[in-house]
Amino acid sequence: MERTPVDVDTLLAEMDRAEKLSLVRGTHDPEGTATGFLPGVERLGIPPFRLVDGPLGIRAEGERATAFPASLATAAAFDPDLARTQGAAMAREARAHDQDALLAPGVNIIRVPQCGRNFEYLSEDPVHASDIGRALVSGIQSEDVVATVKHFVANNQETHRTTVSADVDERTLRELYLPPFRAAVEGGVGSVMTAYNRVNGTHMSDHERLVGDVLKDEWGFGGYVVSDWYGLETTVGAANAGLDVEMPGVPAAGDDALDDFEWPDGIPDATHAGLFGDPLATALDDGDVSPERLDDMVARVLGQMTRIGLFADEDRSGELDSQRHRDLAERLAVRGTVLLDNDNVLPLADDADVAVVGPHVHEPKLGGGGSSETTPFHSVSPVDGIESRADGTVTVASGVPEIEDVSLFDLLPFVESGHDSDGGSTPPVDPSLDAAVDAAADADVPVVVVRDATTEARDRDSLSLPGRQDELVEAVAAANDRTVVVVRSGGPVEMPWRDDVAAVLEQWYPGQADGSALASVLYGDRDPGGRLPVTFAPEEAYPTSDERRFPGVDGVAHYDEGLFVGYRHFDATDHDPTYPFGHGHSYATFEYRDAVAIDESTVEVTVENVADRPGREVVQAYVRPPGTDDVDRPVRELGGFESVSLDADESRTVSLSLDELAFSRYDSRDGWTVDDGHYTVDVARSAGDVRASVGIDR
Ligand code: BGC
Repeated sequence: MERTPVDVDTLLAEMDRAEKLSLVRGTHDPEGTATGFLPGVERLGIPPFRLVDGPLGIRAEGERATAFPASLATAAAFDPDLARTQGAAMAREARAHDQDALLAPGVNIIRVPQCGRNFEYLSEDPVHASDIGRALVSGIQSEDVVATVKHFVANNQETHRTTVSADVDERTLRELYLPPFRAAVEGGVGSVMTAYNRVNGTHMSDHERLVGDVLKDEWGFGGYVVSDWYGLETTVGAANAGLDVEMPGVPAAGDDALDDFEWPDGIPDATHAGLFGDPLATALDDGDVSPERLDDMVARVLGQMTRIGLFADEDRSGELDSQRHRDLAERLAVRGTVLLDNDNVLPLADDADVAVVGPHVHEPKLGGGGSSETTPFHSVSPVDGIESRADGTVTVASGVPEIEDVSLFDLLPFVESGHDSDGGSTPPVDPSLDAAVDAAADADVPVVVVRDATTEARDRDSLSLPGRQDELVEAVAAANDRTVVVVRSGGPVEMPWRDDVAAVLEQWYPGQADGSALASVLYGDRDPGGRLPVTFAPEEAYPTSDERRFPGVDGVAHYDEGLFVGYRHFDATDHDPTYPFGHGHSYATFEYRDAVAIDESTVEVTVENVADRPGREVVQAYVRPPGTDDVDRPVRELGGFESVSLDADESRTVSLSLDELAFSRYDSRDGWTVDDGHYTVDVARSAGDVRASVGIDR
């Protein structure tokens, strides 16, 4: 796009120090919609700059926007093109709300299955998280909005998130936790948000080695580094480490009002703000921070404003709640839905009599709690979605009491109460288990809808479903052996009843299109396109079931499982997971043949849909390294994936390009190293279902 050139150096030369300082510290947004706000410099024609949450849609204060599914659902689609489309749509909605930077995507690796923010993240695997994250960034920025990858780095739990130190060795950081950030930088991301936590003892906003050396010098990141909200610890340390912008820059409320407030765990002290205000001016006066550093901070912000055309007289009107955004929200919810088990009960016959059972069947499950909460214009509950699709009778029963919703905002004294995280209102229903069991027994198919409750700032207490929902499923399953369970969760959950039910669908948090997406999968109008981006297993089988590792002891979470997170852990132990990484059924059936290595980083395989209906397959490739005597390597690592739609009887040759990360290991002395030898590439439907293996010599 042709743009009026704005020369950042010329602008900088014209700015006085106070003007420069105003661009590195947030302040109140006069419009009151932005999550973070830089006022601009009117005298020089520098416009204001607005930053807004978050990964599941736009959270402009007091405004509505399309509520997309949880990021985990987007990731479960294993489709970077679709993620890119979502990024572009969110950016158009950001523009419609007059916002310039989106505080998304969240790309932290899923290390702890209970983490309260897993729903905002993408994967337990760095190649998968990198591919989906890079696509989201590219989509957001294609519509001239700055993307912000967060939270840099090793923010893998919410418990003690503002104080805990992630103690993690260099190799693990390089191979597991840093790659999604590096991929975003390679994809041109405009902004990186630092995490609240420490890494190896140093607060991330002060982390000169990771922010200054790795992110900026080594990777060549040219955008600005923004603090997490109230997440700046020092002035001089942060400025010299490479942090560029303090957000929100101003205290949440009058300091007095919060004087005696005891900040709950996971909530940063919201009076701790303004460190890049007067204290930065003093540090500049004292020579503790150089004027060149201030110029660099400002140049990075101006550089992004220029890049998205803020100085040009362009139309930034955007697009909000359009039909294509609504359709996309539904497509993402469908494509993110994972069919975990299916004993010939799904898809439902059009005229099946269905009992919709569960404590929240009248509410769409939009997302988890916290800064990603989005308020949609409209939404569809499970009951509404099923009722409008069904030709048979639909009965409804809640069965057990509602689950208590949790949100970070309920913990904040300065936020008006009354946020409505689920958009809908729940009609009073009688929580009678007997009535639910009767309805289930009378139906052809009972559909039990269950969910967890997660929020930013809190981790889940356990992987069990809260309340009496397991009891409800057991009771319904005992009454009808064609029971279908629909789970909405922000990560893995335990399903003690899974052998007693006929089918299990995992919908994550499906967003505004909840019920319509659910109905189209249940009735087979669309194939459940999702695969697991995270391994499901009993709580004690994960490496983080050791409290030294999670939540940590004496302020330190020891990442001494190293690379053995997710399927890397299960591959290396005797435990078979409940559902492996990459798992998910289609309504179609696929056969694989003619797997072949084309070159040292490409494999091809022919996939045929042998069913009499169309379906979607996600072809995965896992790379097994040659044995090494002295280095402990994961058994195999995801190298690439490709999702394809195939009509009945259609076959296609799928080409998978394998990421170098899957071949490489990080050596503390030699850096990135690819060992010579014979690599085996497993061509698979999931980490637990390998269909062919081919060799690659390096
Ligand atoms: C979260 C960020 C979010 C910011 C602004 C913080 O609590 O960690 O992800 O973007 O608030 O709402």
